[in-house]
Amino acid sequence: PRTAVIVVAAGSGTRLGAPAPKAFVGIDERTVLRHALEGVFAAPPAQVIVVAPAGYEGEAESDARAAAGARGDLMRVVTGGQTRQQSVAAGLAALWGDVETVLVHDAARALTPASQIAAVIRAVSEGDGTGIVPALPVIDTLKQVDGDAVVGVADRSQLVAAQTPQGFPRARLEQAYERAAQEGAEYTDDAALYAAAGFAVQHIPGTATAFKITTPADLERARMLLAPRTT
Ligand code: CTP
Ligand code: MG
Repeated sequence: PRTAVIVVAAGSGTRLGAPAPKAFVGIDERTVLRHALEGVFAAPPAQVIVVAPAGYEGEAESDARAAAGARGDLMRVVTGGQTRQQSVAAGLAALWGDVETVLVHDAARALTPASQIAAVIRAVSEGDGTGIVPALPVIDTLKQVDGDAVVGVADRSQLVAAQTPQGFPRARLEQAYERAAQEGAEYTDDAALYAAAGFAVQHIPGTATAFKITTPADLERARMLLAPRTT
């Protein structure tokens, strides 16, 4: 395939506070990572790179094998880094073959539908070197504060909440990552890093179920969504 999906799963999950790294916490009988990979392998065929925490490569490999099914030859597990950006860089270094489009996806967005992954792939291929970010409108009123004081209000119509996967032409994404490494700059997401290299980024509609499992309440929400209906 000309498309690769880098699934970053190397974080520790400090805010979730579970005994295991977040990607290896069970939602139901399946882990966060396993659920994320089920979505990835249900999307159009792509090479899949799973970026695991040091010491968890074996667990990542078995989740990936189970999710990949007949597509097992399309996946590879590598070890991540201290920051998400370093983990993505490790994933980029592990690409093989003639990949032209790269998606970067948070394992923590475990319930992201395959349709969202497919939509990002499609938008990158239709774009002219543009980075693609799935995003949702912001619902809350966002206040700008200075200590305790509310000093302003953000214009919601000019804001969206970014999700993953975010998709990019490979050559430009690699160029942007090299630039960030040289400058020692850390960005909040791949789209910001890509934009900092001077490349355009566009957003497409995201999905509510692509929310990121960050806190215990988020994990509870994922469990509710997966629970069998009782009525
Ligand atoms: N991630 C990663 N390598 C890191 C840090 C984060 O691969 N060094 C991944 C996480 O595994 C997750 C995604 O990036 O899938 C989004 O990060 P986040 O939700 O912040 O996860 P954690 O960093 O694990 O959580 P926390 O910030 O609460 O510690
Ligand atoms: Mg984090």
